[in-house]
Amino acid sequence: MQAFRRELTEGLAASPKSISPKWLYDAKGSELFEDITRLPEYYPTRQERALLRRVAPTWAKGVGPDATLVELGSGASEKTRIVLDALPALAAYIPLDISQSALEEAAASIRADYPKLDVRPVLGDFSALPSLPDDLPSGRRVGFFPGSTLGNLERDEAVRLLASSRRMLGEDALFILGVDLIKDRETLEAAYDDAQGVTARFNLNLLERANRELGTDFDLTAFRHRAVWNEACSRIEMHLEAVRDTQVTLDGMTYDFAGGETLHTESSRKFSRDQIEQLASASGWSVRDWAQSDAPSVALAVLAPA
Ligand code: AVJ
Repeated sequence: MQAFRRELTEGLAASPKSISPKWLYDAKGSELFEDITRLPEYYPTRQERALLRRVAPTWAKGVGPDATLVELGSGASEKTRIVLDALPALAAYIPLDISQSALEEAAASIRADYPKLDVRPVLGDFSALPSLPDDLPSGRRVGFFPGSTLGNLERDEAVRLLASSRRMLGEDALFILGVDLIKDRETLEAAYDDAQGVTARFNLNLLERANRELGTDFDLTAFRHRAVWNEACSRIEMHLEAVRDTQVTLDGMTYDFAGGETLHTESSRKFSRDQIEQLASASGWSVRDWAQSDAPSVALAVLAPA
């Protein structure tokens, strides 16, 4: 069975109902996410880019010769260019992504603009990091994991990913990690529930996708987008909330939603510096450098082996 079918079947039977955020990103969802990054309310992308431009030149000095940059979940490799521009001595770049097409496009466009760089795309998943090619340049390996993607992982998943990155990158590695920081409820909820309704369309697209790909019959008028700051868990949650009693059928099974009941579609954890230090030390790293943007604040940490 397709993974999406299996996970939605499990998620609809669970209580509370939930599904992994990775199913938000079909072609339409990825486009809508790009639109989100340009919204006035969605500060993380903008703030992280500005911060990266500010700190990359200083941090580049500590990297040394013949280094390799390894980007986790490289996608379109847009922020990469800021790092590459700051690191003229970089010898190789390894974009790592689960999408073959995204990898190939990103590799081609980086190769075109950085002809001296050895670009070596690697297809792979965060949950089982591949090993790096064994003929890389002799300098250190620098991991790059921007965009607060770490925030979508549960704590134990995050620790596992950081620990396996530590093993993959070897001794002498550095790891540049971008995370969103805890802040007031209003700013957070607005960032995930914008006035133009783009995030609502992004969230509701999951139901359209299921109707199209899995043959479900979600009534799109029976659900609305909700974004809630869950302070106790330090995370923004996206839900699809039934506005009245409704049902959906999947493979001959009927699932009921009572009015007000939700399908939890994403958690985006927000951190404090302390929490990042704890995650780092639980996974074999320590925080060597820390920089924060202006408000609304995001952070970049440089991790080094503990
Ligand atoms: C790309 C997963 C980091 O959690 O902020 C944006 C996704 N969801 N608006 C995030 C997202 C709703 C984004 N990440």
